[in-house]
Amino acid sequence: MQVWKTVAEWLHYRKTLVGRSIGFVPTMGALHRGHGTLVERCRRENDIVVVSIFVNPTQFNDPKDLDRYPRTLESDLALLESLGTDHVILPTQGEMYPHGYRFKIEPDGRTHIMEGASRPGFLTGVMTVVMKLLNIASADRAYFGEKDYQQLRTVADMVEDFFIPTEIVACETIREESGLAESSRNKLLSADAHAKAAVIYKTLKTAANASDARSALEAAGFTVDYVEEHWGRRFVAAFLDGVRLIDNIPTPENR
Ligand code: PAF
Repeated sequence: MQVWKTVAEWLHYRKTLVGRSIGFVPTMGALHRGHGTLVERCRRENDIVVVSIFVNPTQFNDPKDLDRYPRTLESDLALLESLGTDHVILPTQGEMYPHGYRFKIEPDGRTHIMEGASRPGFLTGVMTVVMKLLNIASADRAYFGEKDYQQLRTVADMVEDFFIPTEIVACETIREESGLAESSRNKLLSADAHAKAAVIYKTLKTAANASDARSALEAAGFTVDYVEEHWGRRFVAAFLDGVRLIDNIPTPENR
């Protein structure tokens, strides 16, 4: 596995990769089983597996959230190596934003729901960095998890509208045995909160509708940001012990 500490060196090497299919998994590190399955699928479907690790500051609207985002580079690299990753790109902030936040990819008002409404600038930050990362990787396929479903949909729309020649591959949410969706933020939960967080998935599955799901989560001690249904799926964002967790599953009629 080769680790590229600058984008410039990677781009130079990238020119030599011709005639082989390239799969790409963009990440912010703090890797878990969910990322692991993206990399495994990428490994199965491509000749060369490229992963990026970059904690993107422009997608955090709360600087405290950015500060406490878990950073676990050593174990991330060990996991990626064990999964047969060929290349890891570790861009620096100076390379990704050499002139500050000079250009932005701004999705329109149709995305101003759920994450787009609750986290101002989040989707703009994600689309901007994903556009940069897709250009850097020049991959045939890029892999995104369904846990961040609104992000995944918006990326797929951006790729279509900007004629980016990378296929966006959607991958199912990976869950712990309790049903809790795998997330880097789970690392921030206390043991008690971790056990309780499984209520989110159970409630998504059993509630008759979004409003019942909200009431059940509030009764269980969560601070609910939203429970909404769109695109045949039920979505939730809720805080537990100050940690913001999201999840989504198909609505009952789509299961
Ligand atoms: O889902 C993530 O980890 C991030 O939003 C992404 C796609 C790597 C962009 O920073």
